[in-house]
Amino acid sequence: MTQDELKQAVARAAIAYVVDNEIIGVGTGSTANFFIDELALIKHRIKGAVASSEATAARLRGHGIEVFDLNDVPAIAVYIDGADEINAAGAMIKGGGAALTREKIVASVSGQFVCIADGSKLVDVLGKFPLPVEVLPMARNAVARELAKLGGTPKLRLKAGTDEAFVTDNGGNILDVAGLAITDPVALEAQINQIVGVIAVGLFAARGANVCLLGMAEGVKTLK
Ligand code: 5RP
Repeated sequence: MTQDELKQAVARAAIAYVVDNEIIGVGTGSTANFFIDELALIKHRIKGAVASSEATAARLRGHGIEVFDLNDVPAIAVYIDGADEINAAGAMIKGGGAALTREKIVASVSGQFVCIADGSKLVDVLGKFPLPVEVLPMARNAVARELAKLGGTPKLRLKAGTDEAFVTDNGGNILDVAGLAITDPVALEAQINQIVGVIAVGLFAARGANVCLLGMAEGVKTLK
């Protein structure tokens, strides 16, 4: 099976976690896109969705699914999203698609986080995938110096094909931090959150995934 077929398989399996007559939280990225396409097939069963990015909102609306502002939604039963890395405890690195801040906010008000990922995303120790950190543009060099003190090598994410800084949906920049072996994800998440100028860190450990649907050659494996 190709990686896309594995992503599609977990996206399809995630439909079993959708709660009827509710608003669902939807993540960002290629796996989340497969999920949105599956969600479209059962859109009559849900009230609508809260999106974790402008791209996700556009795809949901393109399928005729109503997108709600989070300020108008008191609680969300289930949030479904991909990950760049996940460990057996459900801690994740996210933000490869630059949507980490809104993903974290939507996940924080959701009862259950269902992670959907192809099997290559499961790791023993997080950190091979450079850790995305969203920062206020004026603070990017100051934050980069602090991240270097933690042993990482931060690199400013650029807009594809340019030498200009990439700008997120929130007007922030992204530092991708390579070289971290993250043996205590909860502690590192708290430590990076303390750096002034950080908007959000792509470590989802204090609030990790409750369930992970992993796409493997032999089928979809469920980790709880
Ligand atoms: C976006 C994310 C994505 O969930 C993550 O990058 C995985 O993406 P994909 O499903 O394309 O592999 O965190 O900010």
